[in-house]
This record gives sequence, C-alpha cells and structure tokens, in this order.
Amino acid sequence: MLAETDKHAERPPKQLQYASFDLHTLTPHMGAEIHGLDLSQPLDEDQSRDLDTAFRNWMVLVFRDQELSRDQHKAFGRRFGKLHSHPMHKVGLRGDDPEILPVVTTADSAYAAGDGWHTDVTCDEIPPLGSILYMSETPESGGGDTLFANMALAYELLSDPMKDFLAGLTAVHDGAKPYVGAYKSTPPEGGYPRSEHPVVTRHPESGDRILYVNSGFTTHICGLSPRESRSLLEMLFEHIGSTPRIHCRMMWAPKTMTLWDNRCTQHHAVWDYYPHSRRGERVSVCGEERPQA
Ligand code: SIN
Repeated sequence: MLAETDKHAERPPKQLQYASFDLHTLTPHMGAEIHGLDLSQPLDEDQSRDLDTAFRNWMVLVFRDQELSRDQHKAFGRRFGKLHSHPMHKVGLRGDDPEILPVVTTADSAYAAGDGWHTDVTCDEIPPLGSILYMSETPESGGGDTLFANMALAYELLSDPMKDFLAGLTAVHDGAKPYVGAYKSTPPEGGYPRSEHPVVTRHPESGDRILYVNSGFTTHICGLSPRESRSLLEMLFEHIGSTPRIHCRMMWAPKTMTLWDNRCTQHHAVWDYYPHSRRGERVSVCGEERPQA
C-alpha cells in the first residue's frame, strides 16, 4: 500500500549540537534524549538556555537515570511556569497532591490513563503548556511505551485545499469525553471543563501552524452539521493515528523523565503489558494564553 501523501515537509534544520549536553535524536523531526544533565540540581544559565532551545526544537525531551524526589520533579516543572492541577483532582480521583498526577496501571486497572491519542487537558480554557512524566516502575514484560505525534508536521502534510477549509474553524474540547465517557468518573459540581479552540493554532514560540484537534477531548467542529463534523474529525484522527512519519516512540525505564510540549504534540500511552504494572507521576505546567489561530 502506498503512503497517503507524497508530500515532504519543508522544515528548517533543527539544532543538533548543544554546548551544555549531548543530544541524541529519536527521529529527524521530533524527540531527543539529553545526556549530561542532572535535573536534581539547579541548571546554570547556559544549561537553561540550551534546554529551552532543545525543547523548542525537539518538542519531546527524554532524560535517563534521574534520581529525583517529588519536590525536585516539581521544581523542574516550575522552571517552565506555574504548576497545573488536573480537573480529576476536584473529584478526589487523582491522589492528594493537586500538582502531581499519579499515572499508575496495574492488573486491577479498568483503564490505562492516556491509552489513546490525545493532548493533555485541552478541555481547559488555557490547556497546560507541557507535561513532565517521571517513571518509577516499568512492566517486567517490557512494553508500556509512549507514542508521540508532531502536530506541526501533521498540519503540514495536509493538502492545501484541506488547510484552506480548516482555517478559521473552531472545535469543542470536552472533559466529560474522557473523564466520564472513558474513565466513568462522576463529574464535579458544574461539570468538567469544556472549551472552544481553533482547529489550527499557532505555536506561541515557533509560530508553526498546528493541527489542534484530538480524539481524547474534541467532540465536534462548530458550525458543521453533526455528520460533517463526525466525518471530518474521523479523517483528521485517522491522519494523526495512521501516519507513522509524524510519530516517535519512546521506551521507558525506571528513573526516566520525559518532558513534552502540549502545544504542538499528541501522545498515546500504549497499554500492551497487562497484567503487569507501570507506575509514574506527572507534573504539568500551566499554559500562558488560550490557543490562538
Ligand atoms: C499521559 O500523560 O497521558 C500518560 C502518558 C503515559 O503514561 O505515557
């Protein structure tokens, strides 16, 4: 079978060399392992500058063999902004520290959080800028990898007529879709957050256009008939999930920490390790502004 598109994205080359650490890419377009930083210690000015540049370039950064306390994990998150509190904390479902989201799957779990393509908490009016997951236990069977999708590339690979059609559209992102529909939680008083965002956004730092709908939260496209909206979302979700060249796969080990940019990526935590267990904790960083077209 042929690829769905013969387009090649025309992107400027990304920075591969950094003075403060070694960087090993996971794919040519997204994802890199950083070697030579100890995140339990404050970063100096050069390390900080290089880290910000690498994050802007590579969107998903993986740090191996990090010995971190919960406070050090949170302190690393705070260097990017204020820490986010997950909407499910309000219903007492995600641990007792509102800044830490336990990500735990065992043989008794009814679901594995994030087991489907999504961007974190896009139901919020201002969704988190990024998330940082620190893994303490990986399945003894192997597996439990996380897939990421580069949503700037997802946008770029669409045809020009489709890009024209999507420009100016907005879509609703509803927390009830995953948290009630998939996770069966009882919503808090007033319900889970629900927000309308542009279907194509601009990354606030790179200026890249981003395809900003995800199967986790997006329920419909405003102004289209239900059938039109369903068909269009189905096509876009298939484009995102079935285009391997926009993906990167990262394999966890205990003490690995991964930082991802929610403004330009989606991810999918693969639950292929039942009945084994996987345990980690996630910190997310508040966004600074509503997603902009
Ligand atoms: C999530 O943040 O959606 C979970 C990611 C993962 O468990 O790999």
